[in-house]
Amino acid sequence: MLDYKVLIEAAFEARRNAYAPYSHYRVGAALLCKDGTIVKGCNVENASYGLSNCAERTAVFKAVSEGKTRFEAIAVAGGPDDMQSKDYAYPCGACRQVLREFCPPMQLKVIVARAVDDYKEYRLSELLPDSFGPDSLV
Ligand code: THU
Repeated sequence: MLDYKVLIEAAFEARRNAYAPYSHYRVGAALLCKDGTIVKGCNVENASYGLSNCAERTAVFKAVSEGKTRFEAIAVAGGPDDMQSKDYAYPCGACRQVLREFCPPMQLKVIVARAVDDYKEYRLSELLPDSFGPDSLV
């Protein structure tokens, strides 16, 4: 397992590219793939607000489109432009469900970070209990 510090730094790096002119809430995500690579994503907003995409889903869709579908962990770093929020940025419900698609054993670690040395760690199963996934359909 890669040092979380590296993954969290990658999430903050991704956050720099956030396109959030409407909410001014910038989010970066860094997805650690089973092959050891890191795929980054940021939120991308749109003048037609409902078309905005979260950082976590940007990272997942980038990874899947590059043939990577097995993930070990994701780090998320988000907050207002000035990062003065007191709270951690947790993945929204839609992003939790999209992540769940790719980790049937619910082993995915979700790290929410306010700084490289200030983070909380969860398993996806804690954030999305009793979930619906690919195995529910068979
Ligand atoms: N956002 C994310 O990028 N990830 C989440 O899990 C929650 C929300 C983004 C979407 C929007 O651009 C901004 O944060 C405010 O909701």
